[in-house]
Amino acid sequence: MLIPAAARALTIPIVASGGIADARGLVAALALGADGVNMGTRFLCTQESSIDQQVKEQIVANSERDTQLIFRTMHNTARVADNEISRKVVEIEKAGGKFEDVRELVSGARGRRVFEDGDLDAGIWSVGLCQGLIEDIPTCADLIGRMVSEAEELINARLARFVSA
Ligand SMILES: Cc1cc2nc3c(=O)[nH]c(=O)nc-3n(C[C@H](O)[C@H](O)[C@H](O)COP(=O)(O)O)c2cc1C
Repeated sequence: MLIPAAARALTIPIVASGGIADARGLVAALALGADGVNMGTRFLCTQESSIDQQVKEQIVANSERDTQLIFRTMHNTARVADNEISRKVVEIEKAGGKFEDVRELVSGARGRRVFEDGDLDAGIWSVGLCQGLIEDIPTCADLIGRMVSEAEELINARLARFVSA
């Protein structure tokens, strides 16, 4: 976690990003020196998110282990959901395949079918490890309200206990 290094070097506000999906992540980021957080995967799985309901339910069902790293051999690693297509891409790369060999599988047109039609094995789709922390599909208002109140509780109760009176 290099947020403290960024905080030491910067005078502008810092937004931490990656792996944050609940109040614990928010409080940890604040402790590291961030002023706020960005959440990709967590907002993907909210009522307001325009992706198909099936994808949201798959995020809830998935654990932190259900991802694949593609494009590693091309020095352009991307984390995507584990599915038929991402496993196939990794296999082709392991066998020495080049981008041309996976181009059609990783196309945006295929990925769109996942998000728009809920066809979970149509293509690759981005998702973070923090899907392992996601257990519901709340409205954004509920999500943020819950995160703020749980963060306050964490700071006032759990963290306060680590500080001597
Ligand atoms: C559906 C989706 C699409 C994304 N697309 C891109 C992208 O095209 N380029 C990029 O640099 N990051 C992309 N990201 C990563 C986000 O910008 C952000 O850094 C990341 O989601 C934060 O981590 P988190 O998902 O654990 O909150 C994407 C993330 C998601 C969930």
